Amino acid sequence: MARLRLGVLISGRGSNLQALIDGCAAPDFPAEIVLVISNKADAAGLARAKAASIPSSVISHREPGFEAAVGDALRDAGVELVCLAGFMRVLSADFVAKWRDRLINIHPSLLPAFPGLETHRRVLASGATETGCTVHFVTAALDAGPIILQEKVPVLPGDDEDRLAARVLAVEHRLYPQAVRLLAERR
Ligand code: GRF
Repeated sequence: MARLRLGVLISGRGSNLQALIDGCAAPDFPAEIVLVISNKADAAGLARAKAASIPSSVISHREPGFEAAVGDALRDAGVELVCLAGFMRVLSADFVAKWRDRLINIHPSLLPAFPGLETHRRVLASGATETGCTVHFVTAALDAGPIILQEKVPVLPGDDEDRLAARVLAVEHRLYPQAVRLLAERR
């Protein structure tokens, strides 16, 4: 069967992009990354795309027509599923509607708890003893779309933001390719 064509949108480090690249490298993986788009020219993740010989483009959110350009690039590449991976822009309701059920995100909390930014700082401040990560469909409401997969991660005594983020990130890297596999296999 043809592999599902993925477009990955990033803004920075790209460790989840790397997890998807690594996942797609397995011979039986039902998806492949055909395009990486960054809204930042200095995103470290761009080097990961290059190292994997995946076409990438930089489309600055400061350019007029930013979203239209992103949509055009995705369509031109024949993208079937868009994966947000540390993409730090909120997409418009119009864009989200056009990609309905074909646009997913990973968020470092057990949604619906702790949507938005500075997640780990807020989790620690709340005194919660567990957190996690969630892969979900993107809707117009921030971090609130239907959940595809999520997994719990303990908050441990003595955690600071970096330690907690690292523990959650290790799970993110497993969960994101797993969610893509489920969708690609229409499960
Ligand atoms: C991850 O924690 C992801 O859940 C969140 O932003 C971070 C991106 O990290 N949306 P990376 O760029 O994938 O390394």
